[in-house]
Amino acid sequence: MDGQNERPLPAKLLVERLLKNVSVPSLVAAEVPSHQMGIGLQTLDPFLYVAVLVLGRDDLRPCTADDREYLDVMMQAFVPRLLTSMAPTASEYLPGDARNLCIEIANRMELIEDDFNFQTFIAMYRGRYVQKPLPQRAVVELCLLHVLKMPFELNSAIQNSLIRGNVGRSTIKALLDEKFEVTGLTRQSSEAILPPGQDAVISTISSIVPGDALTLQKSLVDSAISAGVKVFFPSEFGIDTSDRSASEYIPFLVDKIQTVDYLKAQQDKISWTAVITGSLFDWGLNIPGFGGLNVPAHTATVFDGGDISYEATSLDQVGRAIARSLKSPALTKNQYVYVNSFTVTQNKVLSALERATNEKFTLSKDTVENLWQDGATKVKEGQLLGTLSMIAGSILGKGGLANYSKTKGLWNEILGLPQEDLDGFVREYLAGGAV
Ligand SMILES: NC(=O)c1ccc[n+]([C@@H]2O[C@H](COP(=O)([O-])OP(=O)(O)OC[C@H]3O[C@@H](n4cnc5c(N)ncnc54)[C@H](OP(=O)(O)O)[C@@H]3O)[C@@H](O)[C@H]2O)c1
Repeated sequence: MDGQNERPLPAKLLVERLLKNVSVPSLVAAEVPSHQMGIGLQTLDPFLYVAVLVLGRDDLRPCTADDREYLDVMMQAFVPRLLTSMAPTASEYLPGDARNLCIEIANRMELIEDDFNFQTFIAMYRGRYVQKPLPQRAVVELCLLHVLKMPFELNSAIQNSLIRGNVGRSTIKALLDEKFEVTGLTRQSSEAILPPGQDAVISTISSIVPGDALTLQKSLVDSAISAGVKVFFPSEFGIDTSDRSASEYIPFLVDKIQTVDYLKAQQDKISWTAVITGSLFDWGLNIPGFGGLNVPAHTATVFDGGDISYEATSLDQVGRAIARSLKSPALTKNQYVYVNSFTVTQNKVLSALERATNEKFTLSKDTVENLWQDGATKVKEGQLLGTLSMIAGSILGKGGLANYSKTKGLWNEILGLPQEDLDGFVREYLAGGAV
């Protein structure tokens, strides 16, 4: 299942995503419906069980004889021992606790009699991944940490409801992928003192009401300063708020602007990085009718001819931008960091959707001004959802704050972010379950 929307994920896509996203050596065992395997096996079992050894993102070279032997020994000597030693209390471990879980599993593994194959596997693992001269027990713990940390942290954080929110989920995924230690704070603990030893706080708090949740960021900044945090990422992830006129087009942006003002006034105590992303592309596609586009209904309203350029960023790319910004603190310190997945127009998005679905969308026409005014009128009448039309109008050109690849320049290359391909992204998005 796709963790975000609980949509079934085709097996090929799952493996592709794993290869793209996992950067530590991991062994993933999966149950795959036989009809999705595409290899025509005659089997009565409706599922096949596959194990995938994921060696890391830059490991897309062909599997060598060494890799095969390593996988073979791992499957025979390590996996059965790991499975019999899985801690019955694993679900009691909290996110951030993977190391302790691994120690418990290593203790249980030690109770099983040592055999030659196991020794061989540990020696192979040591040769591949451990540079330091460590005792066998430490190597076993390290190996367990490599195999278990990411799936455990993600699973556990989701189970404990620490990962919520659109940007929150993709951020945690990208941070874990870059091997950051992550702690999640939820509402209840928002009054608590920040746990010590955190280098960065990333706020993905959200509200479309001015003066609401986004203003809480000031007290988060205060707590972060008291806890000795080095950098604060305010909840931005939209149009360019470095231009103060942004709040004329989307009212709640006043709180984002004031949060950065608050940070700037204290940048001798804590630095900040504001990540600007334009339109959150898949978030928008998920809302039928947002920005005139209704993907399930195959209909679209084209505004002002549909050729206005704007920046669009996938949720995964937002997460990566945050993680990479953290990895370059000297460059991103006290900066607005402008990123995207692609610069698009409504017509380009529409063509990509039509190509991927092999269907023509039914079109109507309107103007950006009407779209935005309609939202503004609704908001004035107390209908908050009008804010969504104001957001869409601002992305599609009202105010000119969403085409910053032209006005400000992108940080993608500096941060080493992959440039995504619109057609490829749309195909993958639709294959994930959208109609
Ligand atoms: N440009 C775009 O297209 C676009 C689209 C979407 C979002 N964004 C921006 O991205 C950022 C994150 O948005 P999102 O879509 O990820 O938001 P989201 O899915 O609504 O999640 C918001 C998070 O904020 C937490 N929160 C809300 N009110 C809170 C409060 N009073 N106290 C403590 N926590 C609170 C929620 O906690 P619970 O889990 O406890 O509910 C949730 O985890 C925002 O700045 C938003 O404006 C931009």
